[in-house]
Amino acid sequence: MSQKKAASDRMEKIVSLCKRRGFVFQSSEIYGGLNGCWDYGPLGVELRRNLKDFWWRRMVRERDDVVGLDGSILMNRQVWVASGHETTFSDPMVDCRNCKSRLRADQLPEKNGQKQCPVCGSLDLTEPRAFNLMFKTFVGATEDESAVTYLRPETAQSIFVQFRNVLEVSRKKLPFGIAQIGKAFRNEINPRNFIFRSREFEQMELEYFCFPNQGFELLEYWLKERLRFYGDIGLSADKLHVHEIPPDERAHYSKGTYDIEFEFPFGVQELEGVAYRTDYDLAQHQKTSGKPLEYFDEETKAHFIPHVVEPSAGVDRTLLALLCAAYDEETVTDEKGKSETRTVLRLHPRMAPIKCGIFPLLKNNEELVKKAKEVVEMLRGEMSVFYDETGAIGRRYRRQDEAGTPFGITVDFDTIGENGPANRDTVTVRYRDSMEQKRLAITDIPAFLREQIT
Ligand code: GAP
Repeated sequence: MSQKKAASDRMEKIVSLCKRRGFVFQSSEIYGGLNGCWDYGPLGVELRRNLKDFWWRRMVRERDDVVGLDGSILMNRQVWVASGHETTFSDPMVDCRNCKSRLRADQLPEKNGQKQCPVCGSLDLTEPRAFNLMFKTFVGATEDESAVTYLRPETAQSIFVQFRNVLEVSRKKLPFGIAQIGKAFRNEINPRNFIFRSREFEQMELEYFCFPNQGFELLEYWLKERLRFYGDIGLSADKLHVHEIPPDERAHYSKGTYDIEFEFPFGVQELEGVAYRTDYDLAQHQKTSGKPLEYFDEETKAHFIPHVVEPSAGVDRTLLALLCAAYDEETVTDEKGKSETRTVLRLHPRMAPIKCGIFPLLKNNEELVKKAKEVVEMLRGEMSVFYDETGAIGRRYRRQDEAGTPFGITVDFDTIGENGPANRDTVTVRYRDSMEQKRLAITDIPAFLREQIT
């Protein structure tokens, strides 16, 4: 099988698992869907939450120098005028004259040095023209120019326009950052690769304000911090790449940008951008709004516009990277010598949607069921657990393997003392990845799990 075919088969299997197990569904599916929009099901929503919570913990709670913000999605149109999005936030678009597809000019395959339509193969394409990616809408009851605004295409701008307020209330000194997690919208010409490029997505952004002479050093610092973050959620370093954007490809206001990329089955693609944006955004908003956005340095008595370094990550892309890195198939042989394929999501326990499956060995034994439910009650205040009493125990393990649940706890006859007092009130703990089992006292379970998942 060619490498390309193997990669596309792998991607198909991941997409199919996402639907089958309730990670991701197509938005509005019963009406044929809406291109570029996705819904997260019961497991997806937990995974997403774990990812966002860990980002918040790392970027805000564990630091003295970062505070949070939750800005509105709709903002005054002038924000987008000042930031430059209204005039320049566009991708080059071409039409295929043959099949009428709308395509991104910079992503077209070439045939004999000529751009080609990837849908029908035609070479008959229009000249590229700029297509603004912002979703336009109207605020209030009149649908005229005066009521126009946009769904935000990035979360960063609300941080810039609230800079003054946050500085005042937090009483922070430079360097300090403002972090935000929230929805962003882009009318992508070609949403593709499942949740990788969508029209509605979520960002996790930090704007880290600093003295002008700290910009380059902080760019390197944040690149390292962000790589550490990805390692800590289970993305191994050999799947991550750092691409330094050459000066002629950087945004005009950036003095340095790194893309952190991941080896997806469909290629090495951007997960996050870490950019030194200089004082461009605050200067633009100060100029357009007429309101001072300067910082006063008490030591030097200087007034100046802070510079900013921005690590900007996508929730959906990171989630896809987690799923792609975790997906595995292996052949296992049971006690009777029968071989089967085990599908397992080797998610880091910190990210796993369900931390622990809890199983009474038999569902028709009252005592086993009662004990297993006691274990559920003991743990559920602290973590997401899943109780399952139906089917053979092996099947129940497999179901949790596919959901990425790192631990399985089985309440058996030893637990209820039927084989003597030695193992009473102990359970078997099964590791998802190795399938090894060990016995632990029920009272030791919370500490054991806590250590793995925090
Ligand atoms: N404030 C800077 C900014 O928005 P960006 O490179 O356009 O920079 C940052 O976006 C991150 O947001 C990307 O690295 C990616 O993870 C995510 N992102 C951007 N467009 C996306 C899309 N259409 N679908 C999913 N994620 C997207």
